[in-house]
Amino acid sequence: MSEVRRSDPGTLNRYKNSAFLHTGVTCEACHGDSTGHVSSGGKIKVINPARLDAAKRDSICINCHLEGDVLVERAGRSALDFVPGESITDFASYYVYGGKAATARAVSEVEQFAQSGCKRASGETMSCTSCHDPHFTPDKEQRVAFYRSKCLTCHSNAKFAESHHPETKDCTSCHMKQTGAENIPHVAWTDHRILRIPEVAQPQRTPATKELAAIFPEAGTKRDLAMAYYKAMLAGDKALEPTAWGQLNGVRSDLAGDPEALDALGVMAAARGDEPSAADLFRKVLSINGNDLTALSNLGTIMAKEGKLEEAQSLLNAAFARNQDIPGLASNVARVDCMAGNSDAAKKVLQEALFYNPGLESLESLNTQMSHCPATNVR
Ligand code: HEC
Ligand code: HEC
Ligand code: HEC
Ligand code: HEC
Ligand code: HEC
Repeated sequence: MSEVRRSDPGTLNRYKNSAFLHTGVTCEACHGDSTGHVSSGGKIKVINPARLDAAKRDSICINCHLEGDVLVERAGRSALDFVPGESITDFASYYVYGGKAATARAVSEVEQFAQSGCKRASGETMSCTSCHDPHFTPDKEQRVAFYRSKCLTCHSNAKFAESHHPETKDCTSCHMKQTGAENIPHVAWTDHRILRIPEVAQPQRTPATKELAAIFPEAGTKRDLAMAYYKAMLAGDKALEPTAWGQLNGVRSDLAGDPEALDALGVMAAARGDEPSAADLFRKVLSINGNDLTALSNLGTIMAKEGKLEEAQSLLNAAFARNQDIPGLASNVARVDCMAGNSDAAKKVLQEALFYNPGLESLESLNTQMSHCPATNVR
């Protein structure tokens, strides 16, 4: 949220500086880099979100307030590189479960608001900032008058304001009820569907189908959808593997320069038992990015299984040099060292990994087996 930094190339969790630039939301998160603004004495303007086109304006809030069920980074892009002034859909595609029924799901403020009668009738002129002041959060005493005045900017018929439920000044108490979903992460607490007939919204967390649909259909490509199924599969839904595999193979000719997608095909090919094809795919990835962790560690493992210990060691060591904190990787490096008969090297690797994962059972027990090299196999 507060500008999580991208980890160093080829690593999962390593940052040159600290992982967070700052706590809380800074001016830059919405106005972009301000160093030029400050050093030019104000001549170089910071970005004013209100003057951006609707997609770019909305991207600023969406970047932090929308997650979807699956987020896929566009080919060669990282969502962390998004800066105000750009379109978030150039960086990421958002997917939700439920296929055509996705509109009934309504989880985040962003998705709910898009469904509201106010937004659909107002179009691009209405945005989050029609009701929210990004520089000011009204307190308990102010909130009723604050939001009421926002509603009445558009629902401006004076007679309506006087005659429509004059007994209750809080418009939101009827039209934007609180869902009681505060314990469910990423579920809107206030019902942003702005319903005409007040009802207590039931947050719908149970997907109607296993079909994924793009929240911004104009932006997602076939490759992105295929990667969404792949990511959902990695997150635990094994039944989606054939869909991910079929769809990614359907666009295979477009993937020559797309390491993330080639890695995905490689991982699935290996799991399907086609290790020669997987090895080819990982080699292609490494020709694009020699530091790619997925390719290094998976190709290293395949080489070890084929008995090509020297190549396996060089690949796995390259991955391990940058990621001593990943237990599974450390275990495989140690196993390969052990297969090569070098129990000292294997123990050293496990000691290094234990420094990051003190007392981790799987590493400890492997460590005790390392006196009996060569004995173990690569997993
Ligand atoms: C959560 C997003 C957000 C954050 C954080 C934020 N702003 Fe803004 N800011 C906006 C938006 C949106 C507008 C346009 C408001 C409008 O006119 O509708 C704006 C407008 C402004 C304007 C008026 C610009 C102009 O050209 O008229 C100034 C000045 C400003 N912000 C300064 C700041 C400063 C200084 C900070 C940090 C202390 C900050 N903002 C933090 C979203 C943000
Ligand atoms: C850099 C990330 C980031 C950006 C950009 C951002 N927000 Fe937020 N916002 C947060 C976080 C973090 C919170 C606090 C946690 C929460 O309530 O979900 C928050 C809270 C809020 C809240 C509730 C509490 C409050 O302070 O009023 C509102 C409303 C809100 N944001 C609206 C917006 C709008 C509108 C925009 C776009 C102009 C925006 N945010 C842009 C991260 C962000
Ligand atoms: C940017 C303008 C704008 C703002 C701000 C706004 N609305 Fe609306 N709203 C509209 C428009 C346009 C319609 C559709 C025409 C109509 O019903 O007046 C609408 C429709 C509605 C409807 C009927 C929805 C339906 O499904 O039939 C309700 C209820 C409503 N608004 C309540 C609110 C409340 C409560 C607020 C403040 C929290 C609010 N609106 C803020 C523009 C706005
Ligand atoms: C029609 C007015 C309106 C619009 C438009 C609107 N909000 Fe809200 N929002 C509210 C109200 C009212 C609350 C409840 C504030 C309170 O209880 O103090 C709220 C609360 C929130 C909160 C706090 C958590 C929660 O759900 O209660 C966040 C975050 C938020 N809004 C984000 C957004 C974002 C992002 C957008 C644009 C996609 C947006 N809002 C558009 C009226 C609106
Ligand atoms: C006590 C609950 C309550 C409060 C408070 C309330 N409304 Fe309503 N509102 C309703 C109900 C119920 C309806 C649907 C029946 C109707 O049209 O009167 C409705 C209908 C509407 C409509 C649709 C009108 C139409 O002709 O279709 C709008 C717009 C609206 N409200 C806006 C507001 C605004 C703005 C406020 C605050 C100034 C507000 N409401 C306060 C209960 C409430």
